[in-house]
Amino acid sequence: MSAGAVAGSSGADRPIGVFDSGVGGLSVLNALRAELPHEHFVYFADTAHAPYGERGDAFVAQRTTAIARHLIDEHGIKALVVACNTATAAAIHELRAAHPALPVIGVEPALKPAVALSRTGHIAVIATRVTLESRKFEALHASLAARARFRIIPCDGLAGAIERADAVRVATLCEQYLGAAGRFGDQPGQIDTLVLGCTHYPFIADALRRCTGDAVRFIDTGVPVAQQTRRLLLSARKLRTQGAGSVLLLSSAEPGALDAAAARWLDGPAGSVIHTRAADTTAA
Ligand code: DGL
Repeated sequence: MSAGAVAGSSGADRPIGVFDSGVGGLSVLNALRAELPHEHFVYFADTAHAPYGERGDAFVAQRTTAIARHLIDEHGIKALVVACNTATAAAIHELRAAHPALPVIGVEPALKPAVALSRTGHIAVIATRVTLESRKFEALHASLAARARFRIIPCDGLAGAIERADAVRVATLCEQYLGAAGRFGDQPGQIDTLVLGCTHYPFIADALRRCTGDAVRFIDTGVPVAQQTRRLLLSARKLRTQGAGSVLLLSSAEPGALDAAAARWLDGPAGSVIHTRAADTTAA
């Protein structure tokens, strides 16, 4: 266990691991910190290998395994939030099988809430190709296909553009993908609900909104994931209920990009301590 671990601490004082291919999981970390303000978090951005969304399942599963191992061995995490739809789709089953005692929380596109909330019954789902072509997503889609009309849109390149903070490319891709989806709005036959099936996308809500107009509801999974994390910690008697929380940000590449993204997008209690550093998972 490294200096980053809370050695000898009780179960509740150990950190929660959170990871994503890059900066997208910060949108989930925001919800986690709002729901669990006393917790310590170790956030791992796999920047050296981002984006995951157009890579093969085997690669994403191998990275997920290595990062989980690093967070367990080096940081003694008490729970793991896979803040990445792509990694959840590719590897959550193996992760749970490999670490049966560790609470593991994944994210998946929020189709069920979208069906419950849509009035027109027309729903668009944007996510990475790996997520949308996964068996897990196909099963979810099939279970709800009779209850709404879904437009499923793989957004190649979009997470990468967000990683590079390339606003021009983001705007171009949003117009291209949402332009091809159909008419957005709250009138009969129009798409009134947009599922953000990638944790990077809440950070480009403005660019998406310019394509959909104001009447469309956006749905992401940050809050329900944070609530589920609280439930699991509570039932494992590992919830930290007092004291200041903290965040340690780790990147598999030079951490400057993660630092800049956190300065821009990470909310949280004023004065809370955030450290950033590079992490090596090659030995994992
Ligand atoms: N943020 C991730 C997701 O939710 C991954 C995006 C990517 O790396 O392509 O799917």
